[in-house]
Amino acid sequence: MGSKGSFATDIATIRKRAREKLEMGAVTENYGGDVQTAIALLNEALATEIVCVLRYKCHAVVATGLSSEAVKEEFAQHATEEAEHMDLIAERINQLGGRPNFNPEGLTTRAASQYEEGETLVEMIRENLVAERIAIEHYRDLIRYFGDKDPTTRTLLERVLAQEEEHANDMHDLLVTHEGRPMLKR
Ligand SMILES: [Fe+2]
Ligand SMILES: [Fe+2]
Repeated sequence: MGSKGSFATDIATIRKRAREKLEMGAVTENYGGDVQTAIALLNEALATEIVCVLRYKCHAVVATGLSSEAVKEEFAQHATEEAEHMDLIAERINQLGGRPNFNPEGLTTRAASQYEEGETLVEMIRENLVAERIAIEHYRDLIRYFGDKDPTTRTLLERVLAQEEEHANDMHDLLVTHEGRPMLKR
């Protein structure tokens, strides 16, 4: 060990360790973080995504009015993308040896974002923007946490974060269109 400078472990040790604890699947000896913490954090992110799917699905159906067709489509597309995030995170939890928590009981307490329906089109857009901003903050924190402890999870969350930022931007633009005033100073 240490003879090759920057590598922490020699190949022979890695080969030997890979044959032990096969029941751990993808989680190997040098997993940098605490796996149970990682699973718990990812289950919170999973709950957030489930809430986002439900909220966008609801909005895609109930949004009415002459100008709402394009908005409905946008909501529906976001619902699909939130469902993809949900799948990615659930798969990762499974890879880490955890059980993805899809239990509807306690869902909104586990989730970072809230389930707010909103009455008018503008309220819906606004609630989605709020939810996206919560998700963005949450993912930034998680990405910092996973850092180089778990680069796979970090990379996955970075992809999700990039899409949440697009979502927030979409909602912001819709809000400008439908509320008629610029929100961001550009
Ligand atoms: Fe998402
Ligand atoms: Fe989103």
